[in-house]
Amino acid sequence: MEHRIRFLPSGRERSCEDGASLLETAREAGLPVASACGADRLCGRCGLEIVEGGDGLAPESERERQLKERNRIDPRLRLACFVLVNHDLVVTAPYWGTTEEVP
Ligand code: FES
Repeated sequence: MEHRIRFLPSGRERSCEDGASLLETAREAGLPVASACGADRLCGRCGLEIVEGGDGLAPESERERQLKERNRIDPRLRLACFVLVNHDLVVTAPYWGTTEEVP
């Protein structure tokens, strides 16, 4: 089963398989995601805002919560390398612009 992710503010969209990493899906869409650990779930830098669909995601794990707290990440953000996509989402990051070229 495929899910559709829409990335704001550009409106770019990307489909992914059920259980795909949100971080990898954003990168496949050509969008940068901050990371200092290579998605090893160590750095806490990959926070993204789930604009729509966040309620249907698996709740954050204790590990994700601790990483966010330790790195002073806005509690509203989810760490993209922890999020496995299980339905359609709308997502944004403060450093994504409106004019990215669609690859
Ligand atoms: S990329 Fe480092 S914690 Fe997600």
